[in-house]
Amino acid sequence: MTRRVVVIEGEDAAPEAMRPTLELVEQLGLDLEWQRPPVGAAAEQSHGSTFPDEARAAIDASDATLFGSTSGPSARALFYLRWGRGTYANVRPARWFPGCRSPLAEPHALDFVIVRENLEDLYVGVEGDLDELAGSNLWSRTAGRPISELGPGRFALKIISEAGTERVTRFAFELARRRKAEGGRGKVTSGTKHNMLSHSDGLFRQVAGRVAEDYPDIEYENFIVDDFAHRMIARPGELDVVVLPNLYGDILSDAAAALIGGLGLAPSGCYGNDYAYFESAHGTAPDIAGRDIINPTATILAAVMLLRYLEFNDAAESLEQAVTRVYAAGKALTPDQGGSASTREFCAAVAKRL
Ligand code: IPM
Ligand code: MG
Repeated sequence: MTRRVVVIEGEDAAPEAMRPTLELVEQLGLDLEWQRPPVGAAAEQSHGSTFPDEARAAIDASDATLFGSTSGPSARALFYLRWGRGTYANVRPARWFPGCRSPLAEPHALDFVIVRENLEDLYVGVEGDLDELAGSNLWSRTAGRPISELGPGRFALKIISEAGTERVTRFAFELARRRKAEGGRGKVTSGTKHNMLSHSDGLFRQVAGRVAEDYPDIEYENFIVDDFAHRMIARPGELDVVVLPNLYGDILSDAAAALIGGLGLAPSGCYGNDYAYFESAHGTAPDIAGRDIINPTATILAAVMLLRYLEFNDAAESLEQAVTRVYAAGKALTPDQGGSASTREFCAAVAKRL
């Protein structure tokens, strides 16, 4: 059965990473068809919308999406891929392999995965002016005054739901189990600011602790998130699967990417009950757009995650190994990894090893 994958290239330097990635996947000769619906600035020109109905229909009719990064024009498509398709678990692996320019002296044990809750927390998109809260009884526990007296100013709402937390923490434990079966540490770590946000993050912690009881074979620990950030940098080798509320996961996954050698190396996959999409964890790198030097590794490894999702496991394995061999050889690396190869030269080196 032909698998259909929507491709959204994104903006700035993102297409420069996406195009050669697609060529690499094509080289694998899989029963896979790219769909390229109109999205972003070009769609605005041709269809009067950055996310026309036919783009949405193409996503709905597809098995998965491969997404470049967006600086804005493709954001509506991204929001649909997350909230429209309910992709609640954002999986961001941080695995070092030889040749990657990690700032750590001992990066060898670096192999953990952040599972970031992807739909809730401060990302529910409710912000407003403090004036709007004037009639409410909202009271600042810390300032000991009504919220309305703290203005003029603005607010953002943080939502932690029981069901949203339960499904993402369950996802993390299932992942830890699969990794354990393949020799992983069999551990889940969560990070919450429950000392301060006892109600909202307190709930996340409580639900995660409850889910942990269903997985006696998996070790579970929870840290206050600032302490967790320190541990993640100081002793990353102790981590296996990490589950975090949305915003902490966003911030700490960039930090985790820095540990392995930079954002150019970090892929990302967002999974829901009946859909998944894949992207690099990095942004659109506008400063290097048009120069053919963006590191495509994050996008290629996102394609590897996509292939695994579509159960093209052997193909995923060969593509991943081809990438790690290029790093091990160290001859065709992009400037962010201390080399002088262009994006295309790097991809040619990967292609040769496929
Ligand atoms: C990411 C990005 C996005 C996020 C932006 C582009 C909305 O930083 O995927 O990590 O905050 O989720
Ligand atoms: Mg981010």
